[in-house]
Amino acid sequence: MAQTIYVLNGPNLNMLGVREPTKYGSATLKDVETLCADTCKRFGLDMVFRQSNVEGELVTLIQEARINKASGIVINPAAYTHTSVAILDALTLTELPVIEIHITNVHQRESFRHHSYVSKVARGVLAGFGIQGYALAIEGLAGMIGAKER
Ligand code: DQA
Repeated sequence: MAQTIYVLNGPNLNMLGVREPTKYGSATLKDVETLCADTCKRFGLDMVFRQSNVEGELVTLIQEARINKASGIVINPAAYTHTSVAILDALTLTELPVIEIHITNVHQRESFRHHSYVSKVARGVLAGFGIQGYALAIEGLAGMIGAKER
């Protein structure tokens, strides 16, 4: 049976393509989903792709990944990266490999973006590769969970 990974997106990422295009680019969240689906297909992975603007909904989705026996999580927690102990705790309780991804290089930006709660539990972190970072994150996770390119 194919392994499933969760690709989760936090607040304001539904506005990709419209939101600050000089920072985040012109691709939409739908484009990100297509890129992720194509990458998962290359590795024979099933994918659950979700976005929420609500912290508690993201916590529930992370718990769902464990309940549904997913193999790993790629997450762009967006602004909750820098604030959310609840998301850190949820990711920790899954005991799953987690890859944290940011479209922008958060370390070049305001100092409040330099700290990440999620990095405490992430096995890998990508920042500054634009939306291509999602594909790189999935490739990295695939390696960790033993999913081979077809
Ligand atoms: C982001 C960076 C965060 O600091 C910001 O709050 C976001 C997006 C990124 O993908 O670069 O919403 O996670």
